[in-house]
Amino acid sequence: MSNSISKRKREHIEVINRDPMVDRQGHFFDAIQLQHRALPEINLEDVDPSITVMGKTLSFPLLISSMTGGDDQLVKKVNRHLAEAAQITGVAMGLGSQRVMLKQPEAELSFQVRDVAPDILLFGNLGAIQLNNGVTPEQVKEMLLKVQADALFLHLNPLQEAIQPEGDTNFAGLAARIGELQAALDYPVVLKEVGAGLSVQDIELGLSQGIKWFDVAGRGGTSWARIEQHRRKDDSQLGFTLQDWGIPTTVSLQQARPYMQEANFIASGGLRDGLDLIKSVIMGGYLGGVAKPLLAPAMESTAAVVTAIESLKKEFVTAMFLLSAKNIADLRLNDTLLLPQQGINK
Ligand SMILES: Cc1cc2nc3c(=O)[nH]c(=O)nc-3n(C[C@H](O)[C@H](O)[C@H](O)COP(=O)(O)O)c2cc1C
Repeated sequence: MSNSISKRKREHIEVINRDPMVDRQGHFFDAIQLQHRALPEINLEDVDPSITVMGKTLSFPLLISSMTGGDDQLVKKVNRHLAEAAQITGVAMGLGSQRVMLKQPEAELSFQVRDVAPDILLFGNLGAIQLNNGVTPEQVKEMLLKVQADALFLHLNPLQEAIQPEGDTNFAGLAARIGELQAALDYPVVLKEVGAGLSVQDIELGLSQGIKWFDVAGRGGTSWARIEQHRRKDDSQLGFTLQDWGIPTTVSLQQARPYMQEANFIASGGLRDGLDLIKSVIMGGYLGGVAKPLLAPAMESTAAVVTAIESLKKEFVTAMFLLSAKNIADLRLNDTLLLPQQGINK
């Protein structure tokens, strides 16, 4: 079972590498247009994109979204390169699902990144469905302690599980288990999707269970339905039919707007450049998460990841300058930065 988890992670990466269309390139962020300032009245050098989240200061609001980990040569180096780059560039990082750690102690090493990334905001990760399979809050606490995480990403992936040949699809009663977990943990639990978005009903259920952080992880980027379709052995087209199922990240953020006083949001799913990131922050995200675009650099080297992150930062800072935004507080939920017909709360 445990070996099969590591093998599955490897297969996911192989599918992503050979089928470019698993990145759905939804371009939903292109529909959001920003208010250019010809007289920004600020010095580009004075732009400060830093932000403090969960007590940690980041150089700009980027999250390397959860990807991988496990006892496989291909995936082992990925977390290491990502973590080293996160430390160098001062951004946050999510580990991939730590479920494999519960079954296979050898896999633990690939999640240990604090030696190279002592200062970063680091998220552990587990599929919420595991709470219906007997994983206890004590086990989750131990998992987080072992990797010295600051918080937990608890992922919700009903679409992926429904397409995955060996998928777990009993999501009944899961919200109550999530509430029990949050009550038992001193760590913030961040409820996240994996590319199909969170609905208003999902957010309300999370809030009712004491959850204060959400990552909408919406549609537009990596499609898990399409990835899992490639792993199916039957003749069905289920994953292709559902490859564009879900709520676009931009729409999920708009729908979350009324809840942004009582809860905190992260945006991910299809963010592909610094402009998508700045739009996410304007629309209320404390962080914007990027996964797939950082996978190929992470398989190459730490330097390649640093280069990719620095490009994102340059784009982000240049856009801040052109919006006359000196700091993140000038961006957050500032509707005047959006072209009028694109207003996000109309
Ligand atoms: C190779 C790969 C592995 C992933 N593994 C996980 C995972 O273990 N746990 C999780 O919560 N999300 C996982 N994700 C989902 C991402 O964290 C993210 O929510 C989603 O891919 C959308 O971002 P993107 O369009 O930038 O790829 C993975 C994504 C990729 C590309």
